[in-house]
Amino acid sequence: MADSLAIAILAAGKGTRMRSSLPKVLHRLSGLTLVENVLASTTLVNPTRKIAIVGYEAEQVKTALAEVPNIEFVEQTEQLGTGHAVQQVIPALEGFEGNLLVLNGDVPLLTPETIENMLKTHRDNNNAATILTAQMDDPTGYGRVFCDDDLIVEEIIEHRDCTDAQRENSRTNAGIYCFSWSALMTILPHLKSDNDQNEYYLTDVIKDLSPVMAMDVSPAEVAGINNRKQLSEAEAVMQKRIKDELLLSGVTLINADSITIDSTVTVEPDVTIEPQTNLRGNSVIKAGCVIGPGSLVENSIIGANTMLIHSVVTDSEVAENGRIGPFAHIRGGASVSRNCRIGNFVEIKKSVIGANSNMAHLSYLGDAELGEQVNVGAGTITANYDGQNKHKTFIGDRTKTGANTTLVAPITIGKDVTIAAGSTLTKDVEPDCLVVARSPQKTLPGWKPKYLRTILRTELRD
Ligand code: UD1
Ligand code: CA
Repeated sequence: MADSLAIAILAAGKGTRMRSSLPKVLHRLSGLTLVENVLASTTLVNPTRKIAIVGYEAEQVKTALAEVPNIEFVEQTEQLGTGHAVQQVIPALEGFEGNLLVLNGDVPLLTPETIENMLKTHRDNNNAATILTAQMDDPTGYGRVFCDDDLIVEEIIEHRDCTDAQRENSRTNAGIYCFSWSALMTILPHLKSDNDQNEYYLTDVIKDLSPVMAMDVSPAEVAGINNRKQLSEAEAVMQKRIKDELLLSGVTLINADSITIDSTVTVEPDVTIEPQTNLRGNSVIKAGCVIGPGSLVENSIIGANTMLIHSVVTDSEVAENGRIGPFAHIRGGASVSRNCRIGNFVEIKKSVIGANSNMAHLSYLGDAELGEQVNVGAGTITANYDGQNKHKTFIGDRTKTGANTTLVAPITIGKDVTIAAGSTLTKDVEPDCLVVARSPQKTLPGWKPKYLRTILRTELRD
């Protein structure tokens, strides 16, 4: 189909100015890597082909993108410039008819709407190329775009190759291009590297193509990330976008500047997020929750109307009407059912807590399965690890563990059991029992420590 669309993402560079062992495009912005953010900007244009050009630490980049449907990888083994990078897709696109959208892997703030508009402009005007541009207050480092009053582009000159007069031009190249593939193919194979960096610049194809149209967009959308200062500035822009959208959708954010929320998080209306709270990964916060102050939720689902104060929930689920914290840590695939009270200084790992249960103080449960209405007494601990393997603990409905109970797993405690305070249990307990597993109390009247007894005897003798 002549109108089909392929995308190529330039992601082969090291990103020297990041001063990092991690490839630049894998640095994170609001929860996604830079290159994933770039991919997210193409969701409205339905590309038929998606090609990532990888090079520096190619395997790491491939792994990070492995889950993207229909992604293809092309390797640029030596990074000889952006033009050289796009040359690498020529064999993969042999016989392709349509448009090629080229995206810089380090321009992560683009919106899907902008890419959609760009493609529309490109198609409506039958352009050989359409490029995104921005009028920047400080265009230092960016390529300058020279065009006429109708935004028809003559050429792009890199900052370092510009004369002083040319640097006065504040219209910059965003590094986002839509090319008619057949037009691009007449020029791309013939690029030269006669510039200050001896690189093959993709921007050099522009002066030989016609018509090329510039589309001005807001500078914030096309900011390129070359160092960590720019990454931090982009994070602020992204956070503001995410929070503005949530605020308008009915979420309350108290002291919004102190809160961070990944773009991958879903927050339903009528949720209140208190200060110093971080919501990350594929988390979902259901309606009516109050999260924070001082909480971290990562890859977890928090059910409706749950309160979470000064607590950490990772890779887990808390159902509706929970009262969690302060200082609870729920992790590793734990599941807390509805109406539970998980209190002060409690850790729950890979355990299931039945509905209407309480675990209010100073406890650790690992690899445990609890029924409903269980009361876990203060200081109850599962001894679930023998130094080599983890073992399971089962506790039946309505059972009460006494304060300072130790449950040595594997162990099964039946329903309606009461465990006496201070018990260490190593054997299973049948339902409906009272179990006491502690040494009986001995009281010796008139007893004194040995040294006192000697002194007393000496005194008597004198
Ligand atoms: C590029 C543009 C510049 C534009 C700016 C916008 C060129 C020559 N210049 O400059 O006009 O204003 O982007 O941000 O294109 N890459 C490869 N292989 C390479 C070189 C780079 O894959 O051989 C990738 C990088 O990983 C990066 C992207 O291309 O994702 C851009 O490269 P970078 O070196 O950052 O280009 P700029 O100097 O910023
Ligand atoms: Ca760049």
